[in-house]
Amino acid sequence: MSRAAPRVAVLISGEGSNLQALLDAASAGTLGAEIAVVVSNRAAARGLVRARDAGVAARHLGGKDISREAYDDALASLLAEYSPDLLVLAGFMRIFSASFIARFAGRILNIHPSLLPAYPGLDTHRRALDAGEHWHGATVHFVTVELDAGPAALQYRLRVRAGDTVESLTARVHVGEHLILPRAVEWFVGGRLRLENDSVMLDGRRLSQPVIMEE
Ligand code: GAR
Repeated sequence: MSRAAPRVAVLISGEGSNLQALLDAASAGTLGAEIAVVVSNRAAARGLVRARDAGVAARHLGGKDISREAYDDALASLLAEYSPDLLVLAGFMRIFSASFIARFAGRILNIHPSLLPAYPGLDTHRRALDAGEHWHGATVHFVTVELDAGPAALQYRLRVRAGDTVESLTARVHVGEHLILPRAVEWFVGGRLRLENDSVMLDGRRLSQPVIMEE
């Protein structure tokens, strides 16, 4: 009897281009996992349409006017219907409570549009440009209680060009995000990537820095 594929839940808030990269990898058979559900905190998120188009359960869980803890409890109940092995935050613009993170300890990956630890938070492309950075990119990291500070697994780096704008950097970083996010998920569900005592382990070895892909 063949073992069921690992199950991934993807959390989004908007466009869902990273979700699309995951859906494409799943349907091409290169993700090594089934996308069991897509959850958005915004009803109008285009990513929900992308999920439905791919035949994946698409659920809206609105978060206005309820406490963070109440939201996270509702989210955990929703997710429990799908028994995910991994949660992937792909442009999910909410912050979790510590108890939610503890519940899924070592099983939440996030993609962030900067070379963490540089530029946690919002508006990363603008801030990198304003600071005159030579390098910029994106990071896949494990989610821990401190925002955008969990151990990094994989980074995509690109050289900032003289004429780059927020728009051009956004587009260039997106190309890289769509490479590294499916890769990290594939590593995780394949048992190659894990979090152990706050360290990232790849193929049984502790990473002293994230794996780096360059444009
Ligand atoms: C991505 O660039 C992702 O790195 C960023 O949101 C975008 C979502 O794009 N995430 C964060 O800023 C998280 N703090 P998408 O909806 O097209 O995948």
